[in-house]
Amino acid sequence: MLKVEEQQPVEFSSALMAKFDEIVKRYPEGRQKSALLPILHEVQAELGWLSTDAMNKVAAYLDIQDIEVYEVASFYTMYFLKPQGKYTLEVCRTGPCCLVGAEKLMSHIENRLGVKENEVTPDGLFSWRGVECLAACGYGPVLQIGPEYTFYENLDEEKVDKLIEDLRRK
Ligand code: FES
Repeated sequence: MLKVEEQQPVEFSSALMAKFDEIVKRYPEGRQKSALLPILHEVQAELGWLSTDAMNKVAAYLDIQDIEVYEVASFYTMYFLKPQGKYTLEVCRTGPCCLVGAEKLMSHIENRLGVKENEVTPDGLFSWRGVECLAACGYGPVLQIGPEYTFYENLDEEKVDKLIEDLRRK
């Protein structure tokens, strides 16, 4: 997580606030906290990550404590607590995928992109990280690429290089 003093204050767009209102309506009155996860997804989709200010504003909107938002955002790996690249390569690092080369693949991605896990390439295009089981254990190594979470199976270094090059050309 970036230090608070290194973060910029955020303003949510009116479109995002309208989405908040629509999401909250799905839940019974007084249970607005149930909207927290989908609201955090929407914030991340608009801002790219969840800064402290963004989480505080979500807490204020839902009328809950700031800490309640931090707890959720820091528990689930799909929420980013620091800025990410435009594309985030998430490699499964759980046992079955490691048995078929996931760790080697992560080293390759690190060398190829020239940044460590959770860092962003200087052009702002890529970041990468290891994540837990992506539920395709028989087809490893696997990775997904955010923000759309496109899924790729049976990977090797050559296929990953092609994926990266295709994304660069986009
Ligand atoms: Fe990699 Fe399950 S162990 S997808």
